[in-house]
Amino acid sequence: MGNVHESDDWGMFTADGPWVLVRDRIAWLPDAPRLRAEALDEMRSATQPSRLPPGARGAVVAGRLGSALAAWQWRKRLGRFDEDAAASRADLSRRLRLAAEALGPTYIKLAQIISAGEGLFPPELVGEFRLCRDQVPSETINTVRRTVEEDLGQRLDDVFSAFDEVPLAAASIAQVHAAVLHSGESVVVKVQRPTVARRVRDDLRVMAWLAPRLVGRINIASLANPPALVELFAETIVEELDFRIEAANMVELAGVLRSLDLDRYVVPRPHPTLVTRRVLVMERLSGFKFDDVKGMQSAGIDTEEVIRNGMVAFMEGALIHGVFHGDLHGGNLFVLADGRTALLDFGIIGRLSDARRMAFMRLMVSAATNDVRGQVAALRDLGALPADTDLDAVISDLGLDRPAIDPTTLTGEQLVAEVQRLVRALLAYGAKVPKELMLYVKNLMFLDGAIATLAPDLDLLAEISHISLTFTARHGAQLGTELGIDPTGLALDLTSVKAGFGVDAEVERLTYRELQERRRLIQRRMQGRIGRR
Ligand SMILES: Nc1ncnc2c1ncn2[C@@H]1O[C@H](COP(=O)(O)OP(=O)(O)O)[C@@H](O)[C@H]1O
Ligand SMILES: [Mg+2]
Repeated sequence: MGNVHESDDWGMFTADGPWVLVRDRIAWLPDAPRLRAEALDEMRSATQPSRLPPGARGAVVAGRLGSALAAWQWRKRLGRFDEDAAASRADLSRRLRLAAEALGPTYIKLAQIISAGEGLFPPELVGEFRLCRDQVPSETINTVRRTVEEDLGQRLDDVFSAFDEVPLAAASIAQVHAAVLHSGESVVVKVQRPTVARRVRDDLRVMAWLAPRLVGRINIASLANPPALVELFAETIVEELDFRIEAANMVELAGVLRSLDLDRYVVPRPHPTLVTRRVLVMERLSGFKFDDVKGMQSAGIDTEEVIRNGMVAFMEGALIHGVFHGDLHGGNLFVLADGRTALLDFGIIGRLSDARRMAFMRLMVSAATNDVRGQVAALRDLGALPADTDLDAVISDLGLDRPAIDPTTLTGEQLVAEVQRLVRALLAYGAKVPKELMLYVKNLMFLDGAIATLAPDLDLLAEISHISLTFTARHGAQLGTELGIDPTGLALDLTSVKAGFGVDAEVERLTYRELQERRRLIQRRMQGRIGRR
């Protein structure tokens, strides 16, 4: 009763959970930092490009990818695509998807990451890789039982009074079963596929060998930065291969949400003892799927409010603590009956070093105050541009010192020329998407789609002003000390935000619906231009 040490209000959990998670009595938590460090070390050495004998697995992968490419090139040579670049990309994308599915979990996982990268990767590839989601057959109940019993060191029936044989979900790394503990609590049990860890390690070696070889061959591939993609992928996937690290991430993020007072979010409680490398027992939550707008609305949930909270939360975690949920998508979120959002799946976490976090903060502040040079400098410090970049040259080459042109006023030809000019200039400067920002950008893409379904009439400009004001009110002091600026003197200037959306500086209101119409118009014009060639 009332004893602080018996409570778990240090973390943002549900109000009345099945157990209390006393922080210093979590059996598996003390091991997590060491496990994470070891896993990262191992991955770094595995993905060193120089020490790579791709081996037998390399031959299999090269064979599968090679035949996908060869089939595509053959059809291309026969003139099957009629000079239609989009049709050609679609054909290649389909072949790559089939190859990924044949190659198994690591490649499926990578395809899923790419499928969330709208804007970073070609639309045909993104569309095709979406189909890769969760099509993996589940492991048999005997395999699941064996894994659980080996890891927990107890018979399944001695731990659970009920264990659903059919999983709630089965993905490339793990599957999730509903169960009930003997003490009566409803839980879910996440069980790792038994052979996935070794296979992933072999695959990462092969990928690390392949990635740098892609850079020189496909021009646009260098902007998307394949070696960083592999590095990021390796770093994040190793955390997913050890559920003690994933559970520690749950504890950490729950603590971050609490310290920021973001009480519109909850994290399910992991079990204080039943967490091992391949088994994760946690509190079972239930709620609306993130795209079930009808369901939420009929339960009286304000979906615009859900989005509003989402925008703030995912920025604050990154800017203030340097950590954020790195894998936001519909399957990893529930909206609870009280309108709070439950975050699931902490296998992928974005982490910014202090230097990168501060650069990120400077990027946001300079964007909010329309300080172009500040933005380019911050991007450089984030690793998007080489350290010795001549900032003024970049600014004048990219035309950032001129008023932004509204792209909807351009013809298809002009749009294509403009994009090509930009890409060429960026490549010449050695620009690439920095590793740390990839997950963040991926989350932004998800948020973008979520606004479309949950809040299409939200005025984006008003929201951004609101977020920026709230942010300075809440964190002004920290901004002041960390960036050495006077936060009270910060005046919000939406010019660069509007330029980012491609709208005129005079525009005062911009709903998502309007933004989307503009994007479609631009796409149609560009495709019309490309298709005719
Ligand atoms: N705590 C939970 N309560 C209820 N359902 C859950 C819970 N955790 C996961 N699930 C369900 O299982 C699915 C897969 O879980 P997740 O942790 O995302 O696994 P994966 O890493 O394989 O994507 C989720 O999309 C959700 O439907
Ligand atoms: Mg998931």
